[in-house]
Amino acid sequence: MKILAISGSLRKNSFNTQLLNAAAVAADEDTLVTLFELADIPLYNQDLDGEIKPAPVQAFIDAIREADALLIATPEYNYSVPGVLKNALDWASRPAFNSVLKGKPTGIISSSMSALGGARAQIHLRDILVATLTPFYLVPDFALAASHNAFDEHGSLVDAGTRSRLENYMAGFAAWVMTQHT
Ligand SMILES: Cc1cc2nc3c(=O)[nH]c(=O)nc-3n(C[C@H](O)[C@H](O)[C@H](O)COP(=O)(O)O)c2cc1C
Repeated sequence: MKILAISGSLRKNSFNTQLLNAAAVAADEDTLVTLFELADIPLYNQDLDGEIKPAPVQAFIDAIREADALLIATPEYNYSVPGVLKNALDWASRPAFNSVLKGKPTGIISSSMSALGGARAQIHLRDILVATLTPFYLVPDFALAASHNAFDEHGSLVDAGTRSRLENYMAGFAAWVMTQHT
């Protein structure tokens, strides 16, 4: 199974990008998790959204099309998703109701330094994915709180219980993705 991982943070030491790397480790051996970098995606401009799109946008759309599933790790910015992530999803969402996001099984995870682990951003992201007709995995959910204490210097999750919870999430997510492709 090919999973395209999308981090809502461009920060070099992003906890959400580290979480996606940890998810790749937690996934079973039949699952390939590949990170797509959103850094080169320009701000959405409908004038540029024609047959020929900006190259980074086309690369993003192609990567989504080729993936069996998406796994999005989002930070929480002011109780919602970062503009970087919303912007990328807006590009991928056209043509409306018939884009590469339509029917693409998607997992939503988050991390934040707060005690809520980005849960409020997850709720907003669910709403966005409703608009793009993107089915998302519901339970178990995964939100990593106190992310500044969660990783060691190599980017590995320090807590065995958290690693096990992420393994459980990835196993459940992969099983659900299979049901979406039958
Ligand atoms: C503009 C901005 C707004 C933020 N708002 C929230 C928030 O509403 N809730 C929260 O838990 N953390 C908030 N934070 C803290 C982020 O969750 C924290 O910086 C997190 O590490 C960002 O994710 P990253 O490590 O993947 O870059 C905010 C950070 C920034 C820069």
